[in-house]
Amino acid sequence: MTSPAIDHDRLLDRLQRLGSVGRTKSGALTRLALTDADREGRGLLVGWMREAGLEVRIDRIGNIFGVWAPACDTADPVGIGPDGADPVMIGSHIDSVIDAGIYDGCYGVLAGLAVVEALRQAGAAPARPIAVAAFTNEEGVRFQPDMMGSLVHAGGLDIDAALAAVGTDGRVLGEELARIGYAGDLPPGAIRPHCYLELHIEQGPILEAAGLAIGAVDSLQGISWQRVTIEGAANHAGTTPIAARRDAGLAAARVIAHLRDRVAGANAGTLATVGSLRFEPDAINVIPSRAVFTVDLRDPEEERLQAAEDGLARFLEGLAESEGVTVATERLARFRPVRFDPALVELVAEAAERRGLGHRRMTSGAGHDAQMIARIAPAAMIFVPSRGGISHNPAEFTEPADLAAGADVLLDIVAKLAGT
Ligand code: GLV
Ligand code: MN
Ligand code: MN
Repeated sequence: MTSPAIDHDRLLDRLQRLGSVGRTKSGALTRLALTDADREGRGLLVGWMREAGLEVRIDRIGNIFGVWAPACDTADPVGIGPDGADPVMIGSHIDSVIDAGIYDGCYGVLAGLAVVEALRQAGAAPARPIAVAAFTNEEGVRFQPDMMGSLVHAGGLDIDAALAAVGTDGRVLGEELARIGYAGDLPPGAIRPHCYLELHIEQGPILEAAGLAIGAVDSLQGISWQRVTIEGAANHAGTTPIAARRDAGLAAARVIAHLRDRVAGANAGTLATVGSLRFEPDAINVIPSRAVFTVDLRDPEEERLQAAEDGLARFLEGLAESEGVTVATERLARFRPVRFDPALVELVAEAAERRGLGHRRMTSGAGHDAQMIARIAPAAMIFVPSRGGISHNPAEFTEPADLAAGADVLLDIVAKLAGT
């Protein structure tokens, strides 16, 4: 075997090509899960996986696995059973948020593919299979919860419940999956990972500010998503005295301000975001009768996350009283903070060190598929810097040298773990 090396140019070129799929008329990248754009992106990925000689399997939630199992002599290298070793799994997701950047998720999947190509090219014969995974609906913008494909894979969400999920556009997930041709037949969880590694852009400012190339991610904060519906009463904007109003819009505004005040105060560590808000009837001269909005709470500490949820619940109770509205909440996602496998985290730090790359341990602010897979296998993540800490935004950018370095670190670790 010669020394394996990532084809950095091909990795960068594929990132651009995948990033060109799902462009709206205005040029924005929006490749929401299970849309036509997602289908097109998946097609590109599957084509590259097949060109690379991977066995492509799709499970019932639409997760894509490209498996390379050179040392497996069973007829079906993917049904890795008693005589096959469980694979080293590497990957992420290729669905996007609205008006996204091109790196979030795609980098981890395409770098995973580049790792397998590098090992093949070098004539490696790993003892363990390597599975490159692209998990369905990581972003959770259209269908909740987020990280859905990896959650189903890890047994944390029943497949039938996932398939029945109704999207923000009223479409049913299972029908959309079938429509785009990715309702596979592999039972969820059939490909058991020996361990899982996810390479991802940091999406925050820490590595860039510290001038470091690699983050060895040792933990990931807890996430709480809720939908809040406030019902007031529609009435005439010009005739209804202020004291007589039951204004759902005002009540929603009070919640947003309350959340900011709370997290800006004594409870540092918690983050709160209202990212989606809709009024009804949504007219300039009508007091809103209904406000529907989302609340995203995050905290690395479970107790603080719970306290933030409790605080919000109390505030909503008081608001119903003071504003004469009714308030209903619906939980969309709830994930506890996760600690990654210390031995894998150490491998990330060691691999960075050997490559002469500056590195540090860190926590992840964003949710990731690794958070779900950590339920069933040792897992860890590798971060590379994000310029200006910007993500979920078209300005998302990582220097090509940093993208290359992250892929090199992934290659070194996978080569070791797979036993080349
Ligand atoms: C996923 O990107 C999340 O953290 O919401
Ligand atoms: Mn991501
Ligand atoms: Mn994301």
